[in-house]
Amino acid sequence: MTDKIKNNKRKSYPKGRQVDPPSLDMVKKLLGERSRDRQHLIENLHVLQDQLGYLSRNILTALAADMKLSPSEIYEVATFYYHFEVADYSAGKIPEYTIRICNSIACDLAGADELIEKVKYNLGDMVRIITVPCVGNCDNAPIAVYGKRQIKQASAKKIGAALEKDQSSPHLPDYQTMEKYQADDSGYEFLKSCLEGNKERSEIIGEINQAGLRGMGGAGFPTARKWQFLENTGKPRVLVVNADEGEPGTFKDRYCFETTPHKILEGMLIATWAIEAEDIYIYLRDEYPHIHELLTIEIEKLKQAGISSFADIHLRRGAGAYVCGEESALLESIEGKRGLPRNRPPFPAQQGLFQRPTLINNVETLYWVREILANGAEWFRAEGWPRFYSVSGRVKNPNVVRAPSSITAKQLIEDHCGGMLKGHSFKAYLPGGASGGIMPAALADEPLDFGSLDAHGCFVGSAALVVLSDQDDIKRVTLNLLRFFEDESCGQCTPCRLGCEKMIGLIETGEWNEELINDLSLVMRDASICGLGQAAPNPVNSALRFFGGEL
Ligand SMILES: Cc1cc2nc3c(=O)[nH]c(=O)nc-3n(C[C@H](O)[C@H](O)[C@H](O)COP(=O)(O)O)c2cc1C
Ligand code: SF4
Repeated sequence: MTDKIKNNKRKSYPKGRQVDPPSLDMVKKLLGERSRDRQHLIENLHVLQDQLGYLSRNILTALAADMKLSPSEIYEVATFYYHFEVADYSAGKIPEYTIRICNSIACDLAGADELIEKVKYNLGDMVRIITVPCVGNCDNAPIAVYGKRQIKQASAKKIGAALEKDQSSPHLPDYQTMEKYQADDSGYEFLKSCLEGNKERSEIIGEINQAGLRGMGGAGFPTARKWQFLENTGKPRVLVVNADEGEPGTFKDRYCFETTPHKILEGMLIATWAIEAEDIYIYLRDEYPHIHELLTIEIEKLKQAGISSFADIHLRRGAGAYVCGEESALLESIEGKRGLPRNRPPFPAQQGLFQRPTLINNVETLYWVREILANGAEWFRAEGWPRFYSVSGRVKNPNVVRAPSSITAKQLIEDHCGGMLKGHSFKAYLPGGASGGIMPAALADEPLDFGSLDAHGCFVGSAALVVLSDQDDIKRVTLNLLRFFEDESCGQCTPCRLGCEKMIGLIETGEWNEELINDLSLVMRDASICGLGQAAPNPVNSALRFFGGEL
């Protein structure tokens, strides 16, 4: 070292962002005894966001120090999820009222844009408006969210009134409690007979197989076969309950939880026993705080009664990212990371959550597990493989309909939803939310079973039927769906990240270039890592196929 360098007395600064002691004190105080393990990062961010209203850079740096993670790891997770607001507000500039208005398809049809304009006109600078993707309450569209409450069929007046009330705790629905479930529905008797050795695991899986139950999360994979993948894998094993319900137009899992949560919980515990898992993770979308509260109460009761003592139940909050409904992204999220879908293999049954063999099932699938075991596989078949359809859009009575899987869109509209809204005539329907394509009314007599819409380039997925009328512009609907995919793409792979953006460019123009659109669709379908990018071109392809003249 030369003398020149040795004698250099220049002041040195520590590298990187420095921890601000008051922020560190705040983080320590708010997190208290909570775990600082990496997997709890999202839960810890929720605690800070709930208490402080937003996440400043000082708070994130302090959290990094407290959890012994690098600031970049904290920052990339906090900025990935919509429910975390990373911002540095100067004193006095924190928005007092934030209203979230859903602008996904059902709310768009119900006038979300007009609502936004009216709120701006009536409440002016007093409120900050943020548009958000589907909040899972499409039967009550348009929806605005303030604090932990959803304002149904929202209007500027209702929002104004809501601002005067405390919205920090959600409304609990009038659901069937554990006591009622045990008294009225022989609740947990079947689980008890499994745990007491009166049932064989193979017998249970055989019954589910006999029933022909398929996954209700969207892919329709045979449930028993999925459970069998866990046989002969290592231990400890995990069951993950997918309660992310993010597909626009889907709200049937919410309905199942709001009415009979213990049927789902018993199905979940039976599945855990059948695959010999030790841990259960319920990943619940953050848009359902009322369900978080009721599950917290009811799971505690199960623990106290010793019903779930053979497994540990962990309830985790999502943070507003549709892609986290994709099963491998969901596992990443539970591990406290960004929700980037994983490449397969390895499949979750081999290496899933925390590298452990993992079974992932949708909420409604577990509901039917319990129903099948209580009533028999024959009953399920005789009922016509029932499932829950979420019906929204231009019908008189949007709601959740329990119906055989071969029901048609026409029957759902006419027999279960009171027909079309006054002044609207039936034009088209989305059979499976944003992902399942667009079917014309002329094909409304097609049964909605898994696979029966394949010939039309569409699929039923999570059975979210959104009904469109002669007053709806197919181009506008298509753009709404594509913008949703563009916003929700995790950005990990180019065909999806750029494909969604380019597709929007192609369909925003006056005349659609069919050749280019088909070329881009092929690339997105074939080369995207997960179902989001693969399904994103569906609405555009069906628009071209069935509504070419209109475009
Ligand atoms: C982009 C995307 C989003 C998804 N969202 C959900 C969801 O919100 N809930 C769900 O159960 N499944 C969702 N799925 C399907 C899951 O990946 C998975 O197939 C399902 O949870 C398996 O459970 P099941 O076999 O009981 O249906 C999604 C898939 C993709 C590609
Ligand atoms: S397809 Fe889209 S959402 Fe899925 S991994 Fe690729 S970029 Fe992410």
